Amino acid sequence: MSSRILVIGGTGNIGQHLVTASLDAGHPTALLVRRATVASDSGKAKLLKALVARGATLVYGDVNDHGSLVAAIKEHGEVVICAVGHGRPEELDGQLNIIQAIKEAAGYVKRFVPSEFGCDVEHAERTLEPAKGMIASKLRVRRAIRDAGIPHTIICSYWAIGLLLSRLVDFEEDGPLTAGANILGDDKSRAIFVDEKDTSMLTIRAVEDPRTLNKVMYVRPPTNMRSFGQLVELLEKKTGKTLERHFVSEHELAKKIQESPFPLNFQLAMVHSTVVHPGACEEAVDAAVKVEATLLYPDVEFITVEEYLDGLLT
Ligand SMILES: NC(=O)c1ccc[n+]([C@@H]2O[C@H](COP(=O)([O-])OP(=O)(O)OC[C@H]3O[C@@H](n4cnc5c(N)ncnc54)[C@H](OP(=O)(O)O)[C@@H]3O)[C@@H](O)[C@H]2O)c1
Repeated sequence: MSSRILVIGGTGNIGQHLVTASLDAGHPTALLVRRATVASDSGKAKLLKALVARGATLVYGDVNDHGSLVAAIKEHGEVVICAVGHGRPEELDGQLNIIQAIKEAAGYVKRFVPSEFGCDVEHAERTLEPAKGMIASKLRVRRAIRDAGIPHTIICSYWAIGLLLSRLVDFEEDGPLTAGANILGDDKSRAIFVDEKDTSMLTIRAVEDPRTLNKVMYVRPPTNMRSFGQLVELLEKKTGKTLERHFVSEHELAKKIQESPFPLNFQLAMVHSTVVHPGACEEAVDAAVKVEATLLYPDVEFITVEEYLDGLLT
């Protein structure tokens, strides 16, 4: 029998893919949603209607409402997957309430997946503000999970393809590049891109897999590791157009981060942390605590950077 999966944050960028992947895999799937969201956001109300039509169950509650959390976990959460956002530090810190609720519902939860889905925050020491606050919050949550002895899996899936590639390597462009491209840093390092659908499908496989219990699972498809320069070359090949390259030094990037408004400053700080200083992406796998998804699930054919770009350019 498939585990009952409760997704918290199922209306978000990543969360909606997790809900879909859970339904696709045949799990009884519930979403904890805030009543106010359904009433005030027509886009999210439509999304929820579509997910319910596919078989998902809606449970009203809030991460900051202990009673609703405990009740939802006891009824629907053999597996609890959280995908609250990083827009405000208190949103990620709210997961400490989920940990309290899981402790209270002792014995009900056989796996918890906290809201991570990015770089390995235990190797992101050089991250600049405002992303540093997000990293610190995710670290606090990791520590609290381990201290509480909650069975868990942490998913590191680096750059969500839909977020970065849809803006074609330049956060300041709001669509495909036409004239020029910013190459950040010395362009020696590569970023890792993973499609949100692949991240979600692998997360759902991992929550039933004893090999990922209490582990950090890296999702690093070798076909999807590209530097910014390589991405620009690929784009030129596909469009037949030559793009002017603007090289932005690390110093200039740090200044730009300080001067830019949110969320651009946050996104640039993450590029700085994971591409310009890629310690957070190049961690070796250490079987005691870390596993590599591409080795655990060799059958998975990842959506490639090329395929994504083809879809974007047609
Ligand atoms: N690797 C990458 O490139 C990448 C990109 C994006 C995000 N991420 C990571 O993925 C995770 C999810 O981010 P996201 O961008 O998908 O988030 P998001 O779009 O901002 O969605 C956040 C979700 O959390 C829900 N939520 C927030 N506060 C809540 C509360 N108090 N009670 C119940 N639900 C609450 C929201 O519900 P409402 O609908 O009610 O607001 C929404 O469903 C984060 O850890 C983030 O750092 C990684």
